[in-house]
Amino acid sequence: MASQGLDEGLDGASGAGEKAAMRILILGGTTEASALARALGHRRDLACTLSLAGRTADPKPLPLPMRVGGFGGPEGLAAYLRAEGVERLIDATHPFAARISRSAALAAEAAGVRLLAVRRPAWAREPGDDWREVASVPEAADAIGATPRTVFVTVGRNEAGAFARAPQHAYLVRTIEPLDGVLPVPHLTEIRARGPFGAEAEAAFMRERGVEVLVSKNAGGPATYGKIAAARALGLPVVMVRRPEKPAVTCVDDAAGALRWLEG
Ligand SMILES: NC(=O)c1ccc[n+]([C@@H]2O[C@H](COP(=O)([O-])OP(=O)(O)OC[C@H]3O[C@@H](n4cnc5c(N)ncnc54)[C@H](OP(=O)(O)O)[C@@H]3O)[C@@H](O)[C@H]2O)c1
Repeated sequence: MASQGLDEGLDGASGAGEKAAMRILILGGTTEASALARALGHRRDLACTLSLAGRTADPKPLPLPMRVGGFGGPEGLAAYLRAEGVERLIDATHPFAARISRSAALAAEAAGVRLLAVRRPAWAREPGDDWREVASVPEAADAIGATPRTVFVTVGRNEAGAFARAPQHAYLVRTIEPLDGVLPVPHLTEIRARGPFGAEAEAAFMRERGVEVLVSKNAGGPATYGKIAAARALGLPVVMVRRPEKPAVTCVDDAAGALRWLEG
C-alpha cells in the first residue's frame, strides 16, 4: 500500500501566524474526483489527500498527495479521519461503489466530520432508446436472452465474470485493467481502453464488430455516454444496470458543486 500523510499537501501553507490548512479527504476513482484534485492542487489553504481503492494499476498522476487501499470498513475509515485530523470528507466515488459510500456516511458521523457526496445524475432514457433495465450485473447477463448474440460489455473488470452464466454469447469486453481470466467463455474478445469515448467512434466500433446488444451500468456523466448515444443511433438494445442505493447525505452533481461547498 502506498501511503502519504496529509501534511505533504500543506506545502508551506501554515507558517507562524497563518491559519492552519483545512484537512480534507477525497474518496476518488472517478472523473469528478480527478477534476477536484486538479482544481485543489494549487490551494495552500487546504490540505487535501486523494484516496483510491487501488483497482487501477497505473492511475493518472494528479497534483494531490494520494493514499491507496481500503481503510478496513467504516470503523477503519473513522479511525483514519480521527488520526489524520480530517475536517471534511468528500465522497466522490463511482455511483456503483456502494460499500465505500456507506462507510463514508457511517465514518463521518462517528468521527464528527462534515461529509459531501459528489453524485453525478443518472442517464435518462431518451426518445429512440431501447433500454431493458435490470438491478444487477448477473441479471443483465440473464436479460440478454437464450439466443446467442454479439454483446458489448462495459461494466468494468470486477463484475465481468458474471457473464460466465450465459456462455452462449460472443462477448466484446472493454475494461481498463486486463480481464486475467475472470470471464471463462468460448467467444471472448478483450478490449483494453480508458475513456472518454465519443458517440461517433463508439457507433463505428459497434458497427464494425457487429454488436447486437450493449450492456452498461447507468454510470451517468458525459465521459462514457457515447456508447448510449451510439446504441440509440444504431437502433440497438441496451441492457442497463440500475444504480445501487447510496446513503442519504448532502450531495452535489459535480466537482464545481464540491468546490462551492468547500467555500461555504
Ligand atoms: N464500481 C464501479 O463500477 C466503478 C467504476 C469506476 C470507478 N470505480 C472506483 O473504483 C473504486 C472501487 O470501486 P468498488 O465498486 O469496488 O467500490 P466498493 O464496492 O464500494 O468498495 C469496496 C471496498 O474498496 C475500498 N474502497 C473503495 N473505494 C475506495 C477509495 N476511494 N479509497 C479507499 N478505499 C476504497 C473500501 O475498502 P474498506 O472497506 O477496506 O475501506 C470498500 O469497502 C472506487 O473508488 C470507485 O470510485 C468503481
